[in-house]
Amino acid sequence: MTDTKTQLLDKINDHTGIVAIVGMGYVGLPLAVAFANQGFDVLGIDVDSGRVAAINRGESHVQDVPSSVLARFTSFAKPGDSESADGQGPQRAGSIRATTDYGVLAQSDAVIICVPTPLNKTRDPDVRYLIAAGESVAQHFHPGMVVVLESTTYPGTTQDLLLPMLEQGAPVGIGRDSWRVGRDFFLAFSPERIDPGRTDWRVENTPKVVGGMTPACQEVAVSLYSQAIDRIVPVSSPAAAEMTKLLENTFRAVNIALVNEVAIMCDKLGLDVWEVIEAAATKPYGFMKFTPGPGVGGHCIPLDPHYLSWKLKTLNYNARFVQLAGEINSEMPRYWVDKVQDTLNDARKPLKGSRVLVLGVAYKKDIDDVRESPALDIIELLHEKGAEVRFHDPHVANLSLNEMILHCEPDLGEAIGLADCVLVATDHSLYDWAAIARQARLIVDTRHVVPALHV
Ligand SMILES: NC(=O)c1ccc[n+]([C@@H]2O[C@H](COP(=O)([O-])OP(=O)(O)OC[C@H]3O[C@@H](n4cnc5c(N)ncnc54)[C@H](O)[C@@H]3O)[C@@H](O)[C@H]2O)c1
Repeated sequence: MTDTKTQLLDKINDHTGIVAIVGMGYVGLPLAVAFANQGFDVLGIDVDSGRVAAINRGESHVQDVPSSVLARFTSFAKPGDSESADGQGPQRAGSIRATTDYGVLAQSDAVIICVPTPLNKTRDPDVRYLIAAGESVAQHFHPGMVVVLESTTYPGTTQDLLLPMLEQGAPVGIGRDSWRVGRDFFLAFSPERIDPGRTDWRVENTPKVVGGMTPACQEVAVSLYSQAIDRIVPVSSPAAAEMTKLLENTFRAVNIALVNEVAIMCDKLGLDVWEVIEAAATKPYGFMKFTPGPGVGGHCIPLDPHYLSWKLKTLNYNARFVQLAGEINSEMPRYWVDKVQDTLNDARKPLKGSRVLVLGVAYKKDIDDVRESPALDIIELLHEKGAEVRFHDPHVANLSLNEMILHCEPDLGEAIGLADCVLVATDHSLYDWAAIARQARLIVDTRHVVPALHV
């Protein structure tokens, strides 16, 4: 008789296994497409019924997944079809079906959890979504399944939070004393490395770190991801994989903070920080180029390092780099608002009552995601100081900020013409910087994109 692991590996290797993905957001949806593209039938579970219905209509809410691509899989291509969706040759075509019903886990072989891991008001980990998803999976999963957590989290989450839920059948205490991880079911952590808006490094060709609870868990999880991703990097435990992700993002947060502080120092020294950075970047070894800006945004860099420092606090250790980097990066919006004030002052205008147009509000170029965007802090600070703030972003129609709702200016040229000062917060490729420089009365450029002569 073949054992549980062998049966599961067989289904994974011949792509007949059904992959469930919990949380169909920026991470879950591209992952669903990556598996479906390899012929897997994917079930997307999400608590947002509107999102579920839209996915089933083939409408993508994630910029990196065009609706035309999603629709190929949601039009219920069935196992046995002879062409892959990308036309790369004969293989069974995969499908994607979304649902709010965790009951579909009864027919699934793998479940990958990609729910949000934000911070709460005191900037500590908010694992509410993780616990809710873990409890729902625990109630519905069955022997012979592999469960993988992808949400970014503190080292120890998979082992200390998720494993007990699965073993005990939380929260109802189904009493699974006989279910053993590594024998009856398999558990691993594998961090997502997606970089929204990026086209060169995608889910399929970005190496994937995987840490299993046991050697058997590792084997199953590596095998699962190998079906859809080119290179897998096994590490010795889920905690090592969790820490890997936090090192990557803390590395970015710290280096961005360093270069932001260098920008402030150069400003005080009367030096051009960009000249200094470009010169340093000619060193062929030992230097990695980071660029200063308005601060950090998105779901990762501003938040993830706090997961690490929180965990270390429980071990009576103060993660000093994380704290300092967070302080410097979050002070950047104020630094740029001061620059707007100084620039207007030089033109004999007070900030109070001046019209300031913020160009770009997404947290980085060419995407529509405004989560944690430093542009939002800049707008709020400008507003607090009495400026009349407008925004324009080719990717963002509306912004809701505390009590304010702002709409994207419909006519960019007109908005620039009316502004006393233009602040460049996001360097979207769609902008014609030379034209903007010609039209604007005053410009404050946080991204160093406006041609120098015009600033
Ligand atoms: N966005 C990124 O660029 C990125 C990159 C790497 C890692 N991550 C990490 O991946 C995780 C997911 O991030 P995201 O950006 O995809 O979030 P998201 O908000 O885009 O999507 C999460 C989805 O989970 C759903 N959800 C919430 N609770 C649920 C539950 N109990 N059951 C089922 N569905 C539930 C939400 O409705 C939403 O659709 C986070 O831990 C994040 O830190 C994100």
